[in-house]
Amino acid sequence: MGARKKITVVGAGNVGATAAHWLAAKELGDVALVDIVEGVPQGKGLDLAEAAPIEGFDVRLIGSNTYDETDNSDVVIITAGLARKPGMSRDDLLKTNADIVSKVVDEVVRRSPNTILIIVSNPLDAMCQVALKRSGFPKHRVIGMAGVLDSARMRCFLAEALDVSVENVTAFVLGGHGDTMVPLPRFSTCAGIPITELLPKDKIDAIVKRTAGGGAEIVALLKTGSAYYAPSAAAVEMTESILKDKKKILPCAAYLEGEYGVNGLYVGVPCKLGARGLEQIIEINLTAEERIALQKSASAVQELVDVLGI
Ligand code: NAI
Ligand code: 2OP
Repeated sequence: MGARKKITVVGAGNVGATAAHWLAAKELGDVALVDIVEGVPQGKGLDLAEAAPIEGFDVRLIGSNTYDETDNSDVVIITAGLARKPGMSRDDLLKTNADIVSKVVDEVVRRSPNTILIIVSNPLDAMCQVALKRSGFPKHRVIGMAGVLDSARMRCFLAEALDVSVENVTAFVLGGHGDTMVPLPRFSTCAGIPITELLPKDKIDAIVKRTAGGGAEIVALLKTGSAYYAPSAAAVEMTESILKDKKKILPCAAYLEGEYGVNGLYVGVPCKLGARGLEQIIEINLTAEERIALQKSASAVQELVDVLGI
């Protein structure tokens, strides 16, 4: 591949292939798409490449069952694993996906020792922990995608309730990617105005609840898989901030070492993403109630990490 940036996407399923689509459409770099299913990454890569003349993106798209095309990737997005089926919790996926993520990390790291890993596979926070340990990378180069998705869901619901542009709305979600996530209304705004000034409490409470159940809502509708448009868009927003050194503040799963009173664990917090990867964790003062909710969320992540024994 040439002088353009290179992004590897591992897992050419719903999230991976759709991420490749967004990456190409935004011309963020050449894309290597890897999956174990024979023909699928090749077919999806070729199909996307054939869309390029219509959409006008000049990037190289290569699908493969090997990692040969992934050398020296700037960013690697890991979506390999099993997705949730109806009735299945994210945690059911724990051990299977830990094995898959470990194998993928081994392959990726050998060929791209300086890359930045963006983890998507579930259960997200535990898979980040697996990737950190397995890669031996510093924590600023192993980042998890969840908060961008969770806060985008909250933004979507808020914009609908307020009947305003989604672009006017920001939302703030802390904690693990699970039922215990912590949406924070007092830091969520519409054109800079806290939403607590604009919506009644019962409406906000309903939106917070819907946000926490946002993944399950889509699973219940799709029946054969889980969400992928918004998840892939979220991983690509993180990738863009890194590749263009935009230094966006985005909620991401980060390895905490004392921040927010959490030690040695991945939990979702506001992060600055730039060329070095995770460049800064933004710490804010929480109310006692918010702190307790975050601790509860961190404990849920810790339980999974304990099951894995890492
Ligand atoms: P999918 O089933 O459509 O795609 C997963 C792909 O991974 C499949 O094509 C499969 O062949 C591939 N795969 C399995 N083992 C592999 C290996 N060893 N090497 C390379 N590829 C391998 O699933 P989908 O919908 O794309 O979801 C992917 C993962 O992302 C799931 O674990 C899902 O729960 C998670 N997810 C996480 C979100 C988050 O917010 N962090 C949001 C949405 C999905
Ligand atoms: C989601 O939140 C399944 O984690 C995935 O859609």
